[in-house]
Amino acid sequence: MHCYLDFNASSPLRVEAQAAWMACQEQHFGNPNSTHYYGQQSRALFDDARNKIGDLLGCKGHELVLCGSGTEANALAIYAARQLGATGRILCTAIDHSSVIRNAQMHAQTELIDVDANGLINKEDLLEKLKSPCDLVAFQFANNEIGTIQAVEELVASIHERSPGTRILLDACQGAGKHPLNFRQLDVDFATVAGHKFGAPKGCGLLYTKLGTKVEALIHGGRQQQDRRSGTEDVAAIAAMHAALSASYQEYEQEAPRQQSLIDETWQTIKTALPDAVWIAQAAPRLSNTISLAHPGVKNSALIPRLDLAGYCVSPGSACMAARGEPSHVVAALGIEGALAHSVIRVSIGATTRAEQMQGFSQAYIKEVRDLL
Ligand SMILES: Cc1ncc(COP(=O)(O)O)c(C=O)c1O
Repeated sequence: MHCYLDFNASSPLRVEAQAAWMACQEQHFGNPNSTHYYGQQSRALFDDARNKIGDLLGCKGHELVLCGSGTEANALAIYAARQLGATGRILCTAIDHSSVIRNAQMHAQTELIDVDANGLINKEDLLEKLKSPCDLVAFQFANNEIGTIQAVEELVASIHERSPGTRILLDACQGAGKHPLNFRQLDVDFATVAGHKFGAPKGCGLLYTKLGTKVEALIHGGRQQQDRRSGTEDVAAIAAMHAALSASYQEYEQEAPRQQSLIDETWQTIKTALPDAVWIAQAAPRLSNTISLAHPGVKNSALIPRLDLAGYCVSPGSACMAARGEPSHVVAALGIEGALAHSVIRVSIGATTRAEQMQGFSQAYIKEVRDLL
């Protein structure tokens, strides 16, 4: 049986989400826009799940737009910000997900804000770039490859002070369910969530839009969701997202320290046996489930298949980049180059990861690295 250590790529479906999804498909199959009994049953379920997700994420249900993925939510936020803005200029960070960087480049003149060796935003560079007006600043709550969590409140305050009209998009796809979030308190205009990162099915996401922010749709049709995203709402998806998010936050107090200590123990075992091993961005505030490991002289393209054969599924970085064999732009943005950059692997764990599995992984990593040196 393979051991799954790639929760930041996608997480297994939670039983709570599966139950909510099945119950909805069986009992609430009506179109939520139909005015008859079955339609209204679905509408009630949709609204209820959306409101409850709002309670968990510090916003109102109607500030949330259900989308088909985190990617779509990012694309919609960027498009909406461009329609509202007048400058045609967007700032995002050099470690943003490709769904932010590529959509920004599609719709605006885009500049990348530098980060330091731990993946933290270089505030001086941000403030310098804000000297010229821009429509949107986008950055992540937490990075998918290295887990670095940004100082969101401080960055938002600086952006508001330097450039009051500029809107802010927080990509919280790796934050929701893994760390407490309150979008209203964070004072951003847009925030995005991806369901499959916290145990909901793949193919669902959310866009938070601060009350009063007009969202020009990317997808036109039957004007569902206040004409912000047409298409019959996937009621089962939002019910499953609510179930998964609620279960994740219920166990957060126990799970975050448990996962953190599994990661710390793994690192201690590896570092003791392999003194040249590197934990990328170790010094930054970080998601408790993520460790980005590197070792000079070991190519991740050789190491990852060996770990897979040994029974451990990890990735070189984001799954979409890995599929095309592209080097990680995140690792490059940290200033890591050459052989070390090609040795990076990401290990990301979740609620179902057990201590014995991590001990087994540490031993497999040590063995395979030694064999490859
Ligand atoms: C930080 C971040 N943003 C956006 C996305 C895109 O989410 P989805 O896979 O739902 O399109 C991901 C997924 O890898 C991510 O990690």
